[in-house]
Amino acid sequence: MGAGIGAHVWWAKSHRSRVARAAAKLVAIDAPPVRLSEGLFLPRNEVTKGIAADRRTECPNTVLVTGDCGAGKSMAAKSAFKGQQGVVYTNFNCNPTDTEPIDACWAAQVLQALGMHSLALQGEAALRVLKAALQEIQRNGKQRPVFIIDVDAAFASAQMCELLRMCKELGADASLAHFVVVATAAHTVAGLRAPLSSLCAKLVEIGDLETEEAQEYVKGALRKWCAAHGAVITQSEESNIIDKVLSKCGTRVLYLKVTCHGSWGRCETLPELNAAIEADAERFERWAVWGLDKFLALVPATAARAQQLEVLRQFASDSKSGTLALDRAASAFGITESRFIELNLDSAPGAALPFTIVFGTRQVRAASVHAQRAMLKQVAAWESE
Ligand SMILES: Nc1ncnc2c1ncn2[C@@H]1O[C@H](COP(=O)(O)OP(=O)(O)OP(=O)(O)O)[C@@H](O)[C@H]1O
Ligand SMILES: [Mg+2]
Repeated sequence: MGAGIGAHVWWAKSHRSRVARAAAKLVAIDAPPVRLSEGLFLPRNEVTKGIAADRRTECPNTVLVTGDCGAGKSMAAKSAFKGQQGVVYTNFNCNPTDTEPIDACWAAQVLQALGMHSLALQGEAALRVLKAALQEIQRNGKQRPVFIIDVDAAFASAQMCELLRMCKELGADASLAHFVVVATAAHTVAGLRAPLSSLCAKLVEIGDLETEEAQEYVKGALRKWCAAHGAVITQSEESNIIDKVLSKCGTRVLYLKVTCHGSWGRCETLPELNAAIEADAERFERWAVWGLDKFLALVPATAARAQQLEVLRQFASDSKSGTLALDRAASAFGITESRFIELNLDSAPGAALPFTIVFGTRQVRAASVHAQRAMLKQVAAWESE
């Protein structure tokens, strides 16, 4: 009996000390580093403002950051809290085979990020410790922590609702934390059936860079390359190269980075620089062709060619007029809306995804300028048959 009480007192004490440690670490943890030197980082203040705005609001909505692959979602979420404390970033990779509930899995990852590994919990559930720590922070009137949950590609999209429910419970309902969930547009659309308002979530969409931002990004990279190679170029040569990159590679930050900070690093001369732009544009287009081919191979053979041709032609026209309602796009391929969403996700990983489905409006468009070019090629091939 005495031993039992002793063990209980010991456990309660160690529970309190664990909670106190977790609370102290949560308050003090630095926001994730933005690992880009100043010259290479493009501040996207308009988008980052929207992500960080609710940090001090009572009962904050969950911010759902979405956008195409490589649009700069993770970077925007991290840089929104640059220099702040009490910001925990986790690359959330609870996969569908895990039997653990989403909230337990997330809490374990958070405690790991705080340097509190499962052994230190002595059998106590991570979620229990974390919730108690958040309540302690709230009682002490300290600033509530921010959790950035970056959902990786292995995350089953159907689990998105469960994740957002947990964020609502701890965020909007209990006001214990502010949540930022980062997911690709494809995952968001596939995983969410409930309306965002019922999950107390607000959407922040990260698109391709504005033309001026893209020009600034390429100009910075070009000047860096010139400085490193002792090259001097005229204003008009500079403008020509910038225009060429934008027209060939588009304005998505990932594509620009691959060319201007990847391929250019291997170039010694200006002609090589120009050739690298062409080679990358072809490579991006090959990925897109591959993604579209896979999608089309999954579509039932009975689907009418004429309708497919018509919608692909429309998607390949410019990005504004090339938008169609999801039901119309799906019926052109002879499939249901949910099958269209599934096939799009299954057809290709990441940057080769053929379509983007805009959450909320359920409109479909080509996922990138390269996907548009792949669609044009397909249209031409079908027309010549
Ligand atoms: N604001 C920025 N300034 C400079 N570089 C950036 C910026 N945003 C993103 N990048 C670069 O572009 C690349 C893609 O960005 P990021 O990983 O944030 O995209 P993402 O949308 O999260 O991609 P994914 O869909 O693969 O998760 C990164 O390597 C990053 O370094
Ligand atoms: Mg990311």
